[in-house]
Amino acid sequence: MKFKESLREAKRKFIWNLGYHPLVTPKPETFIQTLKKEIRTRPGRELESEIENIMFELKLYNGSGEYAMHLNTVKKAENHFVTFWQLPRGLTYRQYQDKREVFCNNLKAQVIIEERNGSLMIEVIQGVLPSKKGFEFDISKYPDMLLPVMIGWDQAGPVVIDLQKLPHLLITGTTGTGKSICMQNIILSLANNSNVMLYGCDIGRVNMAFISDRAVFAKDIFESLDVISYLVGIMNKRLQVIESIPGCVDIVGFNESNPDNKLPFLTLLIDEFGFTSEKMTRIKEEKELRRQIYTNIAGMALLARKTGIHLVVGLQKSSDELIPTTVRDMFTGRIAHRAESQSASQVALGNSDAYYLPSTPGRAILKIGNEFRIFQGAFYDPKKARAYLAKTSLRRDNRYYAEQQTNRLPTS
Ligand SMILES: Nc1ncnc2c1ncn2[C@@H]1O[C@H](COP(=O)(O)OP(=O)(O)OP(=O)(O)O)[C@@H](O)[C@H]1O
Ligand SMILES: [Mg+2]
Repeated sequence: MKFKESLREAKRKFIWNLGYHPLVTPKPETFIQTLKKEIRTRPGRELESEIENIMFELKLYNGSGEYAMHLNTVKKAENHFVTFWQLPRGLTYRQYQDKREVFCNNLKAQVIIEERNGSLMIEVIQGVLPSKKGFEFDISKYPDMLLPVMIGWDQAGPVVIDLQKLPHLLITGTTGTGKSICMQNIILSLANNSNVMLYGCDIGRVNMAFISDRAVFAKDIFESLDVISYLVGIMNKRLQVIESIPGCVDIVGFNESNPDNKLPFLTLLIDEFGFTSEKMTRIKEEKELRRQIYTNIAGMALLARKTGIHLVVGLQKSSDELIPTTVRDMFTGRIAHRAESQSASQVALGNSDAYYLPSTPGRAILKIGNEFRIFQGAFYDPKKARAYLAKTSLRRDNRYYAEQQTNRLPTS
């Protein structure tokens, strides 16, 4: 009875406050019916639940980033209602995940299903995504993240991910879909972090040049191999240091026990992974060089996580050949812009969703583990990006240049 009342009340507010026609919005009843129809406990398997108490939080957004409605409101702030709703036991997180697409189609909305601290949270996001919106980031709002990165916007507001948790990010999309701009957003975000240093490999020499005096920057394959080998060296040293301290498993533990001597987080950004393919050249020596680059990157993808080194890699033509599954699987974070084929989308996301994305530049799907979210990448033109970067505290790893200088001196 109470529940029915709150439904009615919520619906009334929804329609009157926002002027939406109930037929074109995902009505709570529709949502509940869809849930009931699609998710049933199978007899005799009630104890299968992975989550003790399945709760769900239903959030409806009105398209301008504000919550439009919530059910069973338990916490209230201005324009912000949070709702938890307990469902019967015996359901698994997986059962909800499997039905994500059904919910999306049924509700004509973006549905995000996440498990948070043992609760199931379902977010229903409706409204139109912006087609262009600038970069805005206030790092102080994300104290729980070690490496917060603002990648863009969805109907609920800024989309911010923690690079430290991924630990590596693969950005795919056919030409002109916004990969380099996405990389720029990552650079601008990380530049706000005083304990981060950046390393960029940009063979095209156009997109990332704006960081050349604030980060280690490689503009051809020779310099790229130098930078990558240097980072592999640091990774190996850090692995030894971390392993030598009892009870310490990674850089986070190391930094906690050495607050006055914290190791910085290092992010290697590669604008186009395709250049590591030996097929890109006919020259024998260059093939060897590219092979070495590829091997080093693959090694880092596998081992660098603990040491605070993260990879952010762009890839125009996603194929098994260019990035085999063994390496690809290390990139738990994916940002897939529009793909040129279903198979390219399959490589990027494990499904064909990226093939069906609209051609709006910057429109992309974020995939972390098995959670998906559609968003619009933030956009700053190069001039604004340069001005933004100039105001940040980003510092270059000058030791790299000093070491390069020494290595080049004649030995005798
Ligand atoms: N988030 C965005 N919002 C609006 N416009 C964007 C966005 N991202 C990219 N664009 C537009 O698309 C153009 C191409 O973007 P970008 O250079 O990032 O593509 P790309 O995927 O790196 O292409 P390529 O594979 O050719 O390097 C930009 O110059 C800009 O005009
Ligand atoms: Mg590019």
